[in-house]
Amino acid sequence: MKNGRLRKVVFPVAGLGTRFLPATKVVAKEMLPVLDRPLIQYAVDEAVDAGADTLIFVTNRYKHAIADYFDKAYELESKLAQAGKEELLALVQGTLPRNVRCVFVTQPEALGLGHAVLCAKQVAGDEPFGVILADDLIVNGAPGSGKAGALRQMAEVAAREDAGVLAVEEVPRADTRKYGIVDAESISARSARIRMVVEKPAPEVAPSNLAIVGRYVLPPRIFPLLEQTRPGAGGEIQLTDAIEALLHEMPVLAYCFEGTRFDCGNKLGLVKATLHMALQDPQIGGETAKLVRGQGA
Ligand code: UTP
Repeated sequence: MKNGRLRKVVFPVAGLGTRFLPATKVVAKEMLPVLDRPLIQYAVDEAVDAGADTLIFVTNRYKHAIADYFDKAYELESKLAQAGKEELLALVQGTLPRNVRCVFVTQPEALGLGHAVLCAKQVAGDEPFGVILADDLIVNGAPGSGKAGALRQMAEVAAREDAGVLAVEEVPRADTRKYGIVDAESISARSARIRMVVEKPAPEVAPSNLAIVGRYVLPPRIFPLLEQTRPGAGGEIQLTDAIEALLHEMPVLAYCFEGTRFDCGNKLGLVKATLHMALQDPQIGGETAKLVRGQGA
């Protein structure tokens, strides 16, 4: 990582996505759209904003749509070009900047998020890298507002402090069982040094209500630690457990990002994200606002 620029970002997209079955029987949940763009497009844009030029997708063998989505669509592109539909052509061709390459690695079995990240080891190499869980959609200002995405904010902190950085957010105490929870000591307005992490604790034993959400900046040292990690909560190889081991070797910071997170891994979160985007859309924002107020058809 140079000057706070993260060159490589890992996208684990091999989960089963059971909360969206049957839609996720053949497509990864990261392909579900929020308005007119799949979740993975928002995530890729955020990675590119953080400086990424190598995107590593950890996928499974059943779901090919993400690879197809970022590939060239020859027939569609030539038809749009012939029809003179330049704006649509630009949309289709604009899924990825030209200098950015995609690498796909397979996770043979859904053995957990930690295992998915470990699958990226060979490609990630020996520099700090980002991880984005695309079902956590984080919006910071309107597109084109120039505000830094969550991962860029974290990359800058990681470079400045020479530390691992995890995105955190306060959650209701009753929800601690859904998250990795940190115990951390504040070092600045948005950052805290983590003393301990616990995966999915019951509210009574959770050390705080600061939950790890789907953004990480990790050093390559995480890979050997993941190799030593045994299945934890839910029988899965948990990224949080390897991070707990990392804490004993180097500083890892919890970072309260600037932006709004939508948990699009569940139906209500996806609806909220869609409404948020629809309300801001120049074409349908007004009608959506009427609909939300109960005045629409
Ligand atoms: P989730 O905990 O949301 O699980 O994974 P899931 O299987 O995708 O969804 P549900 O709970 O069954 O509805 C968090 C992230 O980790 C990835 C998922 O794709 C998601 O981005 N993941 C999870 C993997 O890539 N591999 C795994 O083995 C597990």
